[in-house]
Amino acid sequence: MTLQELESQQAQSLQEVAAANGAAELEQVRIKYLGRNGLLPAIVKQMKDVPKEDRPAFGKQTQAWRAALEQALAEKFAAAGGAQAQGPAFDCSLPGRWTRRGVQSPISRVIEETAAIFARLGFSVADGPDLETRFNNFTALNTPKHHPSMDASDTLWLNDDLLLRTQTSPVQIRTMLANQPPVRVICPGRTYRRDTTDATHSANFHQIEGLYVDTKPVSLADLKSTLAYFARQMMGSNIGVRFRPHFFPFTEPSVEVDFTCHVCGGKGCRVCKQSGWIEIAGAGMVDPRVFGFVGYDPAKVNGFAFGFGVERIAMIKYGIPDIRWLYENDVRFLEQVK
Ligand code: DAH
Repeated sequence: MTLQELESQQAQSLQEVAAANGAAELEQVRIKYLGRNGLLPAIVKQMKDVPKEDRPAFGKQTQAWRAALEQALAEKFAAAGGAQAQGPAFDCSLPGRWTRRGVQSPISRVIEETAAIFARLGFSVADGPDLETRFNNFTALNTPKHHPSMDASDTLWLNDDLLLRTQTSPVQIRTMLANQPPVRVICPGRTYRRDTTDATHSANFHQIEGLYVDTKPVSLADLKSTLAYFARQMMGSNIGVRFRPHFFPFTEPSVEVDFTCHVCGGKGCRVCKQSGWIEIAGAGMVDPRVFGFVGYDPAKVNGFAFGFGVERIAMIKYGIPDIRWLYENDVRFLEQVK
């Protein structure tokens, strides 16, 4: 290659820059001449074949070409608003972008706190699917064949056998089917009922259930002390617990569980509707028939179970008057509860 050829190639490259339309075409020219396999690096590599006395002139010419080409490219890129505009890729002297920190939902907070409280009593967390079978959600829980809760007006059925679980109790069934006693779990999760939504109802809400099954004797007193511990950890150290007789198909005897009102301490106020008590949970001693459904020997095992609504705890604990606020993701609300 002669000096002249070098010069004419330089002129050619600058013409191509001038003729290029837009950043993409400019990039093509840049790659052709300056890219890793471009013409200029190739010429530099060939420099060793140039006679020694001509090399300085060749080197100078090549450098001038590169400088002229780079400048022409930079100017055109800038005019095209392309990515190759001069200056560093980002300006580190600019202030950082402010990202707003999220706030944990009170529902998640209650679930996590509950899991932590029961972990101290040796309970682990069990999980199950939202889509359940008739067997897990009803049959194994000893629900009588024509119980109204199975009606299509209460339960969201996908077909004859599959439904959106109406309670987290089926996780108890799954846990017992997969494990031998002793079993100590809590089951938090989403549940579904055919409800219209208002200030205190939602068709989609959350429950936490608990199950303790052992071959050693377990009594109603164990249930009461467990729930009393939970009440004091969750709502405050002076909280009292009372049991009222009730009925659930899956427990016998069954109770409804009230906590003393955390606002008035039991004297009576607006929050507890002057009664001093707030209804929190359903519970009882696991019905022997349930053990039969999961293959446990009802003569050898016993235990207790309980269940409560997560939203209800959150509303009471944080003084939230409307359940819908829990689902709206309004950061102004979430910030206040925090
Ligand atoms: N599943 C009941 C409900 O949705 C709550 C409940 C009551 C759960 C007693 C239990 C239990 O595990 O033993 O109303």
